[in-house]
Amino acid sequence: MKTRLTAIILVAASILMACTPKPKEDRHGNYVIKDNMIVFDEPQRAPGQQSVLQFAADPIENVRIGFIGLGMRGYDAVDRITYIDGVTVTALCDIVPDRVESVQTDILEARGLPRAADYSGSTESWIGLCERDDVDLVYICTDWVNHVPMAVYAMQHGKHVAVEVPAATSIEECWQLVDVAEQTQRHCMMLENCCYDFFELTALNMAQQGMFGELIHGEGAYIHNLEPFWHEYYDNWRLKFNQNHAGDVYPTHGLGPLCQAFNIHRGDRMKTLVSMSTPSYNGKKIAKEMMNTEEFANGDMTTTMISTEKGKTLLIEHNVYTYRPYNRLYQLTGTEGFANKYPIEGFTVLDEKLPAGFLAEGQHLNPHGFVPAEVRDKIMKEYLHPIAVEIEEKAKEVGGHGGMDFIMDYRLIYCLHNGLPLDQDVYDAAEWSCLGELTAASIANGGMPVAMPDFTRGDWNKVQGYRHAVK
Ligand SMILES: NC(=O)c1ccc[n+]([C@@H]2O[C@H](COP(=O)([O-])OP(=O)(O)OC[C@H]3O[C@@H](n4cnc5c(N)ncnc54)[C@H](O)[C@@H]3O)[C@@H](O)[C@H]2O)c1
Repeated sequence: MKTRLTAIILVAASILMACTPKPKEDRHGNYVIKDNMIVFDEPQRAPGQQSVLQFAADPIENVRIGFIGLGMRGYDAVDRITYIDGVTVTALCDIVPDRVESVQTDILEARGLPRAADYSGSTESWIGLCERDDVDLVYICTDWVNHVPMAVYAMQHGKHVAVEVPAATSIEECWQLVDVAEQTQRHCMMLENCCYDFFELTALNMAQQGMFGELIHGEGAYIHNLEPFWHEYYDNWRLKFNQNHAGDVYPTHGLGPLCQAFNIHRGDRMKTLVSMSTPSYNGKKIAKEMMNTEEFANGDMTTTMISTEKGKTLLIEHNVYTYRPYNRLYQLTGTEGFANKYPIEGFTVLDEKLPAGFLAEGQHLNPHGFVPAEVRDKIMKEYLHPIAVEIEEKAKEVGGHGGMDFIMDYRLIYCLHNGLPLDQDVYDAAEWSCLGELTAASIANGGMPVAMPDFTRGDWNKVQGYRHAVK
């Protein structure tokens, strides 16, 4: 009797459950909204595909480079590279033939170097460059939407890739870079030069030595009124992109150096973000003037908060439209100290963190203020990052944003020469670039939290602590 009753109850319950409508999956293209959280689709790693975490290729004695995109950024990149030993520029590509020619004559010939193979005159010329046998590294400085197709094709043709920022413009493209780097076992480094500025490198070195205690919060930004530049981009690519994309479309200058200090995918990972944006005022105005359009998706000021697996927080800002002083805000808050660049470069450091005899006899630092200028200058010398020590002088001479661009190129070539893992791997490229689409999704849903994809597919805690490889 009892078992019969139980059976009836079970049948009734299952009928009831079957009749209760299941909550419908709230799908929006490539993401779902689950428990008030935006979750993007994450593709599985294909069978046979291997992680490139800590990947090192065979040493290359002389790195043969093909450059694609010789506009404002690419021209200078070729120039800087020619100051590094053990490098040959074998091929040059730009849609505009004159741009290739001016690099040939003004840089290569002027420095007594052989002319490189010329790929120009069409939007597809770069394909031939990627297929050449005498290219080890394809260095990409084109507009954003060309980065991934070029990087993917180059890796599929056995080349390592260095690609300008942001490496990718969508989540799909980020996964494409990761998958192809893993499939081909090639390097794909995003050229995030702000990781190599002297203040950031010094602060990173100090953080790694525990001078700020435990890092708990970081702030970074790209705040740069591009009014003088909008007309300079080839075929107006940048404004056209921003016209169609909300969110932080240029996040990596602020985020990259922070991720290194916070050991992202080297013991911690960015887990969730929320983003908000103002309407477009000045963006709309410039778009009206240059494109005769009333529509402009990118808000003038975009602000994003990120929380990490370990509960640390990062604040990232983007504003390329309004009248403000240039600000790449790099700020580290630790339990025992503080570093800040823009508008004031300085540190808050506790006396006992400094080596004996570092401060003048009887001198004490104010734990509520910046260290005095002479102590800051002394700190900048004492804690200059080891990777910058040997090349500081040459970097300042060659230049590129005060020398940081040269240090970046130098490190890329040094690691390739010595068969070492690069300073920035393909997971960095994806993690730093993915903010574009993630922030747009958060903004489109009223600042809803977004789960950040784990591009390492579970390997984010395998390496403990960010380190530059040295031989
Ligand atoms: N890291 C930095 O500090 C920094 C600074 C400026 C620009 N950038 C990045 O550098 C890249 C280029 O920016 P820019 O300011 O030099 O722009 P730009 O418009 O001056 O140059 C882009 C060049 O790419 C070429 N190009 C476009 N499509 C091509 C194709 N299919 N084949 C061959 N060439 C092609 C164009 O002809 C042009 O010469 C962007 O990704 C930008 O974000 C980085």
